Amino acid sequence: MVAALREARHVVVLTGAGVSAESGVPTFRDAQTGLWARYDATALATPDAFRADPALVWGWYEWRRAAMMRAAPNPAHHAIAALAKQVPALTVITQNVDDLHERAGSAGVVHLHGRLMQPRCFQCGTPWRYPVGIPDEPEGGRRVTPPDCPRCASPIRPGVVWFGEGLPADEWQSALAAAAGCDLMLAIGTSAMVYPAAELPQIAVNTGALLVQINPQSTSLDGIAHWNLPGAAGITLPALLHTAFADGMNE
Ligand code: APR
Ligand code: ZN
Repeated sequence: MVAALREARHVVVLTGAGVSAESGVPTFRDAQTGLWARYDATALATPDAFRADPALVWGWYEWRRAAMMRAAPNPAHHAIAALAKQVPALTVITQNVDDLHERAGSAGVVHLHGRLMQPRCFQCGTPWRYPVGIPDEPEGGRRVTPPDCPRCASPIRPGVVWFGEGLPADEWQSALAAAAGCDLMLAIGTSAMVYPAAELPQIAVNTGALLVQINPQSTSLDGIAHWNLPGAAGITLPALLHTAFADGMNE
C-alpha cells in the first residue's frame, strides 16, 4: 500500500462525517451519538420539512453551525492538506458540510452535499451571509425564524443538500471525473450508505484504481477495498502518510 501511495499519479480522498468525528463534530449513523440516532432526519433534512417548519429546521442547523465553528481541524484534515504536496495530483471530495478541510489548508474541495457556511434563499437561490460570531444555541437547537431573502423575502435556507434533492451538478461531475481518473482512492470515515456519493469508490475500482478504506467499523466498502485500515482517521491517516512520505509530511 505504501508503495502504491508513493507511485500514485492522481489520488482522490473521499471523506465522510468520520473524518470530522475527532474534531468533535457528530457523525450521522454512529450508534447512540449519530445525529440520525438522536434526531428525525425527515423532520429536519428535507425540503418538505423546511416548508412545513422553517424555524425548527433553521434552528437545528444553527446549533450544528455553532458546533462546526467551535470545532478545529484534526490531524486527519491536516494530513490530507499536507498530502497535496506529496503527490502529483490530489482531489479531495467530501460529503461533509463543515469547512474543516479548508481550515486545515485543503483547496478546491469538492463538496457533494453543500456547505453549511453558504446559506441561500430557499426560493430564488440568492446567497446570504451569516452575521459575525458564533450563535449561542442549546443542544439540538431551538426554533429560530430564518432570515428573509433580501431579494424576494422568502426564507433563507442552510446551504446543504437535503434528502430528496439532487447534488450540485458541477460538484458531481468533478467527483465522477476524479473517481474515474484516479489511480488510488482513500475512502475515509464514510458509511457509504448514501447515494450517489457511495458509488464513487466502486467507480474508482472499476476504472482500475486501488482503494484504501479508513474506518473503525465495517462498511459495504470492505469487500471492494484493496486495504481496510480499521482505525480512527486522526491516528491512522497521519501514520500511513508519514510512513509513505516520511519527512515530507512534516512541512
Ligand atoms: N475515523 C474514521 N471513521 C470514523 C471515525 C473516526 N474517528 N468515527 C466514526 N467513523 C466512521 C463510522 O464508522 C461511519 O462508518 O464514519 C462513518 C460515518 O458514517 P455516517 O455517519 O453515515 O456519515 P457519512 O457516511 O458521511 O454520511 C453520508 O449521509 O445523512 C447524510 O448528508 C449526510 O453527508 C451525509 C451522508
Ligand atoms: Zn430570494
